[in-house]
Amino acid sequence: LSRGNSSRIFAPHTVAMNASDIRQSFLDFFQGKEHTVVPSSSLLPSSPNLLFTNAGMNQFVPYFLGEQSPPYSPARATDTQKCIRAGGKHNDLDEVGFDTYHHTFFEMLGNWSFGDYFKREAISWAWELVAEKWRFPASRLYVTVYRPGEGDPASFDQESHDVWATLFERVGLDPKIHVVGGTRKDNFWMMGDTGPCGPCSEIHFDLTPEGDTGGRLVNLGSPLCIEIWNLVFIQFNANLDGSFSPLPARHVDTGMGFERVAGIIECTDQFRDFGTRVSNYDSDLFRPIFLKLAELSQQQYLGTVPTRRSNLTSQEKVDVAFRVIGDHVRTLSFAIADGIIPGNTDRNYVVRRILRRAILHGRYLGLGTDGFLSKLVNSVVNTLSPAFPELKAQENTIVEVLDNEEALFNRTLDRGLRILEDELVNHPGKVFSPDAAFRLYDTYGFPVDLTEVLVRDQGLTLDLDAVEDRMKVQRERSRAAQEKDVVAPISEDVPTQFVGFDRDEAEAKLVRLVTQGGELLALVDTSPFYAEMGGQISDTGELLYGDSQRVEVTGVAKRGSSFYLKLGGTFDGEIPADVWLRIDQAHRRKIEANHSATHLLHWALHEVVGRNVSQKGSLVAADRLRFDFNSAPVTADQVREIEQSVNQRIINNDPVSWLELPYNEVKTRP
Ligand code: SER
Repeated sequence: LSRGNSSRIFAPHTVAMNASDIRQSFLDFFQGKEHTVVPSSSLLPSSPNLLFTNAGMNQFVPYFLGEQSPPYSPARATDTQKCIRAGGKHNDLDEVGFDTYHHTFFEMLGNWSFGDYFKREAISWAWELVAEKWRFPASRLYVTVYRPGEGDPASFDQESHDVWATLFERVGLDPKIHVVGGTRKDNFWMMGDTGPCGPCSEIHFDLTPEGDTGGRLVNLGSPLCIEIWNLVFIQFNANLDGSFSPLPARHVDTGMGFERVAGIIECTDQFRDFGTRVSNYDSDLFRPIFLKLAELSQQQYLGTVPTRRSNLTSQEKVDVAFRVIGDHVRTLSFAIADGIIPGNTDRNYVVRRILRRAILHGRYLGLGTDGFLSKLVNSVVNTLSPAFPELKAQENTIVEVLDNEEALFNRTLDRGLRILEDELVNHPGKVFSPDAAFRLYDTYGFPVDLTEVLVRDQGLTLDLDAVEDRMKVQRERSRAAQEKDVVAPISEDVPTQFVGFDRDEAEAKLVRLVTQGGELLALVDTSPFYAEMGGQISDTGELLYGDSQRVEVTGVAKRGSSFYLKLGGTFDGEIPADVWLRIDQAHRRKIEANHSATHLLHWALHEVVGRNVSQKGSLVAADRLRFDFNSAPVTADQVREIEQSVNQRIINNDPVSWLELPYNEVKTRP
């Protein structure tokens, strides 16, 4: 690390502010403007259709929609929010490693007004913090304001334009150059396809050596002019039919890219030197991870950034691998600390893919099969646990999960390599099958560029465009699935009484009907239907009304203590106030059987594998159960023993009993 350019990367920068100073400075600044400092919410989102918490505003949605009142006086808050953008509407996974400023996990610094201040204050304070307190050179700042096209919502954001224009003029800069119009794509922010949204105004920073681009690089995806802060003026609710209704109040939602600001301030030596590369990865948020990785791999990070995806030089591959692993180990540590462990479905599967991508890049660095990811965890914990104590508290779990997963994947990887070899032997020729390359990618988590390198080594070619076509089809499919990515316009204001422990049907009041993600949901005051929670799927059944008319109930979502029945059809005529609810008993009995079997499995795991088996999640459905747990690998003999113990209890027809206890007591009982 002491040789060549790398000494520049790892040399301590003589900066006044390091990353944690910057975070604190942001929070202090807004605390000084009467904002309450609130903790980050979990990466496990409360909105049922989000994969991960993907923006600072997620936890505040009920305040924006006017469903709940914010508990702050004045109604302002500031925080640093843990975000993962690795799936769904906001997904940066493919960029990570190949540039200097995108991440799967990042912190978003934000300030919030819930019907309190609006554009003028938000913009003036952003300027005060960035240009005056932190001294970003104003001549390098460019801001965008919303300029709608034909048919787009709202009108030109004159107010934001005028506030910015005055600020630039005050320091002798021409607003015609520094205030740039932006289209709906860049300047109208939405969290999902529905929900709170509005025009936004972004601050971009020119990182070219001369700083004289005159705004030409704004929004072109150049690493030399990057967005550092997005100020969103929430004033609409996006409806399912594509229309926008004004919200009862207007709000501010800002999001600053913390790692970007840290990278800029540290790499430019607090704006003294624009002659060197600026990269988030050269900030002290990543430096300890890279030092450890360099020690483990005996490779040097030189910070090269390839401009293409294939035919990388060996140094480019090493540098991409450092960035991928550095990014991913943070994502993995934070996800696991919040209870999102690698798995086979949904967000857990995304986490598993991230982990596998990191391990594959570890192989580029020559890191073998004995597990390296967990050795980086301590660098992440030491750097970030002062701000996120959950990392320290969960450090052992993170290490354990990563070790187990890495061992598992190393076996999968070897299998993938064998499949690749078989394919090469069974289908000899000059061209490697794009279907096989896609299958390796999709099923075995093999990056296509790895396949390409391996087959090229064998003198074959791979038609990357053909693989890309297959990936496009798959992306299109997941994008279509994404249409459910909506902000639930449902609230938890009317609690539902669950009566399903001893009744299969009940009379109920229909309190409200709402639509969400194309589904019709009915809030009821009483429910014999169990709602989807704790890994157990919900009951299904029917809703009867009027003169024996019926609507199918396809599932039940729970928000707070309110139950929303998902309806498979609509009502004929007037919407009834009183309804009769009946569960599908056969379906419920199967769920009950799988629920009991889950307890049996948990018991058998404790008996056979050990008391330290800890449950990490479970799925209880009508046709199956799944039980996630942490432990040392389970041997084939143990699996047999577990099966026998569970089956024996079922064959014995042992009685099932249940007991209702306060939650705390359950947790402490042996
Ligand atoms: N919600 C906006 C964003 O995520 C600003 O916080 O960019």
